[in-house]
Amino acid sequence: MRRRLKVLSVLILVWTFPATAQENQPELVIANPNAMFIQQQRALPPLEVIERGDDLYQVNCRLCHGPDLRGGDQGGPNLLRSDVVLVDIAGEAIGEVIVQGQGSMPTFNNFSNEDIAAVAGYIHAIKATSEGQGSTPPVDLELDILVGDAAAGERYFNQECSSCHSVTGDLSGISSRISDAYILQNTWVAGGRRQSGRGGVQTTATVSTQSGETLVGRLLRYDDFFISLRTEDGTYRSFTRRGDSPRVELDDPLYRHRELWAELTDSTIHDVTAYLETIK
Ligand code: HEC
Ligand code: HEC
Repeated sequence: MRRRLKVLSVLILVWTFPATAQENQPELVIANPNAMFIQQQRALPPLEVIERGDDLYQVNCRLCHGPDLRGGDQGGPNLLRSDVVLVDIAGEAIGEVIVQGQGSMPTFNNFSNEDIAAVAGYIHAIKATSEGQGSTPPVDLELDILVGDAAAGERYFNQECSSCHSVTGDLSGISSRISDAYILQNTWVAGGRRQSGRGGVQTTATVSTQSGETLVGRLLRYDDFFISLRTEDGTYRSFTRRGDSPRVELDDPLYRHRELWAELTDSTIHDVTAYLETIK
């Protein structure tokens, strides 16, 4: 409800008082006033910016938000229906989510303002061209995955991955096992095809309460105010968190992969994928 109100008030501001908008509040430029929806009326950034946003989206967002923005394998919501996208003009609202994260969405603190504007421009371009038709967006969504430098990827692998993996051990034959380059890329970036949940890699939580009780179990949900876990005997336990109480320690085998989300650049991603592609 509060979000609805916010959406309404921002839309009203944009529609009726563009001249009084604050200085740092970007203005919506209408290029196509006869279109049915505001998303279709807006002026889009230049094609090269949209293309850059496309590239960033495919690498950083597609796995969770899907190839056509309607939601993906890793549980991101449909961005075509997102209020945040609706109120966003030039990346200021989308950028807040990218930089700060939201819920289980990781933070991308390596995104520059240009990156944010490009990804936002791409999302708006898809929305502008697909809304109302329900068809697949016409912007070319295919990314040529195998554009990297395998030798550079190997150097990166030896530095950043070999403490946990080996291409003659656990990752031997990885590109035969996962022959689609796009899935291979998503798999190594995410740390597996099923990150969590049934059959996936799980995070263990140790919770120590003030009364001296210690519980160990599989982490179910965790945020600033709440933690829930399932202990080995199958009992569900949950706690409200206030600051440091109860004390929580997490053992997340994929912690490095979660950090990588934020650290990896496009070229590193392409290089490592090109290298792994040679591991038949
Ligand atoms: C690991 C999965 C994951 C990745 C990667 C990811 N997201 Fe998200 N995103 C989510 C989830 C889950 C939510 C919903 C969070 C919540 O509100 O609980 C979300 C929410 C959002 C929202 C807000 C939607 C709304 O209306 O509240 C935007 C905008 C968004 N993501 C954009 C992006 C962009 C752009 C990228 C790439 C730079 C990205 N996301 C990468 C999972 C992801
Ligand atoms: C701190 C340890 C650690 C580091 C560093 C690390 N990973 Fe992982 N990785 C894991 C764990 C844990 C898993 C999940 C293992 C499993 O599913 O058995 C995983 C899973 C994977 C998988 C999926 C394996 C499969 O068989 O499906 C790939 C591929 C992968 N990592 C590649 C990489 C690459 C490439 C790097 C470096 C950029 C890297 N990892 C860095 C710990 C790490």
